[in-house]
Amino acid sequence: MANSETLCFDERHVEQASAILREGGVVAIPTETVYGLAGRIDSERALEHIFEAKGRPSDNPLIVHVASVDEIERIAIFTTDARRLAESFMPGPLTLVLRQKHALSTLVTAGLTTVAVRVPGMLLTRQIIASVGVPLAAPSANTSGGPSPTTAQHVLADLHGKIDAVLDGGPCSQGLESTVVDCTANRVRILRPGALSAAELARVLEYRPEIAAPAEGGAPGMRYRHYAPKAAIELVQTLCQLRQKIDQSQTAGCLVIGIIPTRQTLYLDLRAADSLNVEKILVLCDANVEKDHALMNRLRKAIELDDQTDPHA
Ligand code: TXA
Ligand code: MG
Repeated sequence: MANSETLCFDERHVEQASAILREGGVVAIPTETVYGLAGRIDSERALEHIFEAKGRPSDNPLIVHVASVDEIERIAIFTTDARRLAESFMPGPLTLVLRQKHALSTLVTAGLTTVAVRVPGMLLTRQIIASVGVPLAAPSANTSGGPSPTTAQHVLADLHGKIDAVLDGGPCSQGLESTVVDCTANRVRILRPGALSAAELARVLEYRPEIAAPAEGGAPGMRYRHYAPKAAIELVQTLCQLRQKIDQSQTAGCLVIGIIPTRQTLYLDLRAADSLNVEKILVLCDANVEKDHALMNRLRKAIELDDQTDPHA
């Protein structure tokens, strides 16, 4: 594929994107969290294309994106808690893991009996799904292992020439992926912390959902190296430490930058550092940042598994 077309986010181009998807193509679409690489869940060709373009391990299942909560009912079985969460937070940055109603493609589910479903917050994105007429599988539209894309330019930096098109909806408002929750057991558990906090979920559930460790069956994707830039990352707690580390690195001739992470800017900054060929990124994690579980999760994942012991690195 020589070129990946960039389409504006307006009614006419939304229809063009829908037509490409209807025919089994793959299109990167904006959502309120991050850009997703979408393909029909009933097209093996589209699904294989998604895995190939991203270089994604085939045992990592995909999130199915639907236009409304009613559509979830056609492919999955609700529990009482799942329904309460859906009523409160959908459309929005929440992904529910539910039991499948009928067996879906193993490319979508990685052979699990469950399926992850989400209704994106952006209206035009839901219009695309509705216009295709079939739910869309959509992992984040980045090369597997790297930072997720929060602009159309990020998508093209990773996937240009590997996908049919990207629909440019501007920067994503949340900038961090959806919260993935397992609703198949007695109590809801968080498999991947994300844009929606445990406290917000607790208000609806009337109990605080536990956060599952990957070893206890967290989201399969949490096992892999993730969100990592090429540069090394080091966390510091105070501005004073940040200054000292910058001085030390510069004396040692190491190209370094310091960032203050926010949900909206983390992936943007990690990607910017790589494009400047920075060797080290110092991240100022003060008490406020430390309180943000989802943000700290992404930072720790970007550091923790950045070694050769991970077969998927
Ligand atoms: O915000 C988001 O969720 C974005 C946008 C595009 O919707 N999507 C996204 O997809 O982050 P992806 O593929 O990068 O991450 C999906 C996560 C992975 O950790 C995967 O293992 C997990 O969801 N997942 C998918 N299906 C699952 C299932 N049946 N059971 C448990 N975890 C599942
Ligand atoms: Mg991802």
